Amino acid sequence: MSDNVFPVVEEIAKQAWVDEAKYKEMYEQSIKNPDAFWAEHGKRIDWIKPFTKVRDVSYDPHDVHIKWFHDGTLNASVNCLDRHLEKRGDQVAIIWEGDDPADDAKITYRDLYERVCKFANALRTMGVKKGDRVCIYLPMIPEAAVAMLACARVGAVHSIVFGGFSPDSLSNRIQDSECNVVITADEGLRGGRKVPLKANADKALESCPSVETMVVVKRTGGAVTMKDGRDVWYHEVVANEPAECQPEEMNAEDPLFILYTSGSTGKPKGVLHTTGGYMVYTSMTHQYVFDYKDGDVYWCTADVGWVTGHSYIVYGPLANGAISLMFEGIPNYPSVSRFWEVIDKHQVNIFYTAPTAIRALMREGVEPVKKTSRKSLRILGSVGEPINPEAWMWYHDVVGDKRCPIVDTWWQTETGGILISPLPGATALKPGSATLPFFGVYPILVDNEGNELSGATEGNLCISMSWPGQMRTVYGDHERFVQTYFTTYKGNYFTGDGARRDADGYYWITGRVDDVINVSGHRMGTAEIESALVAHAKVAEAAVVGYPHDIKGQGIYAYVTLVADEEPTEELRKELVKWVRDEIGPIASPDVIQWAPGLPKTRSGKIMRRILRKIAENDFGALGDTSTLADPSVVDDLIENRGGK
Ligand code: PRX
Repeated sequence: MSDNVFPVVEEIAKQAWVDEAKYKEMYEQSIKNPDAFWAEHGKRIDWIKPFTKVRDVSYDPHDVHIKWFHDGTLNASVNCLDRHLEKRGDQVAIIWEGDDPADDAKITYRDLYERVCKFANALRTMGVKKGDRVCIYLPMIPEAAVAMLACARVGAVHSIVFGGFSPDSLSNRIQDSECNVVITADEGLRGGRKVPLKANADKALESCPSVETMVVVKRTGGAVTMKDGRDVWYHEVVANEPAECQPEEMNAEDPLFILYTSGSTGKPKGVLHTTGGYMVYTSMTHQYVFDYKDGDVYWCTADVGWVTGHSYIVYGPLANGAISLMFEGIPNYPSVSRFWEVIDKHQVNIFYTAPTAIRALMREGVEPVKKTSRKSLRILGSVGEPINPEAWMWYHDVVGDKRCPIVDTWWQTETGGILISPLPGATALKPGSATLPFFGVYPILVDNEGNELSGATEGNLCISMSWPGQMRTVYGDHERFVQTYFTTYKGNYFTGDGARRDADGYYWITGRVDDVINVSGHRMGTAEIESALVAHAKVAEAAVVGYPHDIKGQGIYAYVTLVADEEPTEELRKELVKWVRDEIGPIASPDVIQWAPGLPKTRSGKIMRRILRKIAENDFGALGDTSTLADPSVVDDLIENRGGK
């Protein structure tokens, strides 16, 4: 690991919201007196009825509850729209950059307000009311933001499903939260290729009796079948609706959205976020972490199907009246200069992307970057997985011309917003370290027995105090919420990540310590991929682990035992990869399938994943004790046939 230190850039510190001294002062206040701190910062958003209570939190496994600002009322869409109309109605809210570079649009705050009101009215006309769940399965088009804010306006809880998920995955998510309405598009467009969203949704809805209405946005004009009595066109339902819409008054603790994410066991869980604390936390982190100033053009390259898109394309930036760029395409279409060309085209000041994209573009050399100017850039950001120092240096030196601080932001779907990150004007940087906690965040490291470790050390990362953006429950399964996050290390929120803390108190995230893998910044549960594999008639057993991958960070390595009499063939290998893609989605495609006549198991039948991980990593020297295995010889076979030879 690199211990290079990059001091704060003076020019940035001079005009930043906070410098080093201010960070220390505010951080100390936030930890010593969280109630006073958050009572003050809670006022940064507009309340219909101001809160008088700041927090009511218990991490006690017998009574886990998390409430913030819980006697206040507000509406999230009002915070993202109405409150900006007077001062910046004509300012751009969303710059939309299409998949095709010739396709773009600028939407002002007033335009966005009107579009949201019209669609919110349309939702009400369809019968959607406060508390109803609405599934959004859309590509990266402005209607995605409109749909989110329209749901928020009428008090409906949106559940966005990433457009890359399969019909099955979509269907499971719709069923789990019993959505009444699905919003999709005819087709998505990415890298010149069409994604059949409506056809996928049609398939998914075959097993979703709760859905009464499907709204379809016309994106490509591709042929779709509209089902009578169920399917309606977006442009038709908004056509005659008024451009004003009375917002629903929501309690701070009313749900804003559900977002499914993978855990180490079972099916994906519906992470539930509520309204008040989430809005306070996302807007505040967006302002400070990106040092956002009025008029800055800010671009987060995530998809709204992930939490990064929720918090840092839509809710945080729009609550701050920011200019938020939304990109439909991919980094290497039509060329590997696309990101940098878009930065020049729209004069982007703040650019936030994932290490996997950096690594992929780094492979293309410096020329595609250097032929662009990028002079507008001031701050760079990274999210989703650990950024290796080599990629950090390239991002810093080549993309940022050594001028721009990089904020390596560590957080999770569950945390709602950024928890550990540098602040551009306050924090000296170390490549590969997410550095220091945000205001109000108190990270601790514990050993496997739960003892808190002090000083420079390595351990399991927990957060010991609540912050306003924290998830409140797993939708429909509070017990799972308690079990997953609050029972392993009692009294603390357990993140599932491991981390090192150095002598300067900087955090270095080392990756997941559970059975979750992070593929290109996308979180996958190994159990989900295993159950997809064993659902195939020819598969008897499967075990999936992560292994280091140059571009993706981690790749998916599957050990597969076939049913008796089935021969392992190249054809079957391809069939299984396709099978998993169809079951879950392309992001879950195994990179390696190794035929395993047997899996290493203890005598009680438990698969020893540690051994499988080591073999996948090509690290045979460190297999540890294999004598407790029911049949130690299976290990030799796996080693001999590593990599699916
Ligand atoms: O392992 C950590 C990794 O991504 C996980 C969270 O994934 P997800 O809920 O999909 O949210 C991703 C976007 C916030 C974490 O448990 N992770 C995220 N950011 C970083 C990271 N690992 C290291 N450094 C980061 N900056």
